[in-house]
Amino acid sequence: MQRQSTVPEAPGPSLINVVVAGATGWVGSALVPAILAAPDLTLVGAVARRHAGQDVGTALGGSPVGVTVVPTVPEALAMADVLVEFTSATSVQGHVLAALDRGVHVVVGSSGLDPADDPRLDAHARERGLGVVVAGNFSLVATLAKRLALIAAAEMPGWEVVDYAAAAKPDAPSGTACEWAAALGAVHSQAAAVPVSAVVGHPQARGATIAGVQVHSVRVPGYVLSTALLAGAGDERLTIRYDAGQSPAPYLTGTLHAIRRVTSLRGLVRGLEQVWP
Ligand SMILES: NC(=O)c1ccc[n+]([C@@H]2O[C@H](COP(=O)([O-])OP(=O)(O)OC[C@H]3O[C@@H](n4cnc5c(N)ncnc54)[C@H](OP(=O)(O)O)[C@@H]3O)[C@@H](O)[C@H]2O)c1
Repeated sequence: MQRQSTVPEAPGPSLINVVVAGATGWVGSALVPAILAAPDLTLVGAVARRHAGQDVGTALGGSPVGVTVVPTVPEALAMADVLVEFTSATSVQGHVLAALDRGVHVVVGSSGLDPADDPRLDAHARERGLGVVVAGNFSLVATLAKRLALIAAAEMPGWEVVDYAAAAKPDAPSGTACEWAAALGAVHSQAAAVPVSAVVGHPQARGATIAGVQVHSVRVPGYVLSTALLAGAGDERLTIRYDAGQSPAPYLTGTLHAIRRVTSLRGLVRGLEQVWP
């Protein structure tokens, strides 16, 4: 993938001290062992509320690893170079600010950071000489799908984004869909045949308008996460769709890569493609 960022870089440390917020969650419980197994990363903190006070290794059903789970992010940051954020859409912003205020770089996996807030967070990070990598999806395949969607959108006159996830997902659209919309909206503007404001019936059925792109969120049992670009031109249609599986494994390589890159960044970048490879 081509790197599009203009964010300045500085040399990072060779051994990186990492705190995982959301260490006992679906992603966090896979990320903790991956960090423990990485020779250049040291797990120095783990955050989650219900398992607070337990060793994180024990909390995940294994042997103790010498890191106690604490219930809040500030309590975990004393020795940290990087905070990795996989908690929830409601808590992510406070955690990012807490880390930046304590001189800690941040890798954000949680959905819920509005791309419209990126310039403010970018300035906040630059003032402190820190890096932030935000990616709605750390999967390399999802990142490839986004790249293909951008290529298609540049060639097609009209397109919309459909975001599928499990019924219980609390936020909408997904972080992946928000990022697709933000990137697609910069490709070219589309003149709607019928503006949303002029729709007869229920204009909400046309979805949310994000960065000028219509995004439709479907929340149905049985889905994990799928993101699709539906494009049309004349009498032809093209669909580019990413489908996540049941395991968090696809997100690990990209997250570990972002941890290694963020210490040398200054400011915020959004999208794994900004730091991959
Ligand atoms: N970027 C990506 O590639 C990617 C991939 C998958 C998921 N995600 C996003 O990542 C986030 C986490 O997903 P998940 O499926 O792992 O969620 P999850 O299974 O619900 O896990 C959330 C974790 O965060 C902890 N937590 C939640 N709120 C907290 C708070 N206020 N303070 C401290 N700890 C808190 C939870 O433990 P307690 O409840 O005990 O505190 C748990 O350890 C979601 O926003 C999801 O959409 C991103």
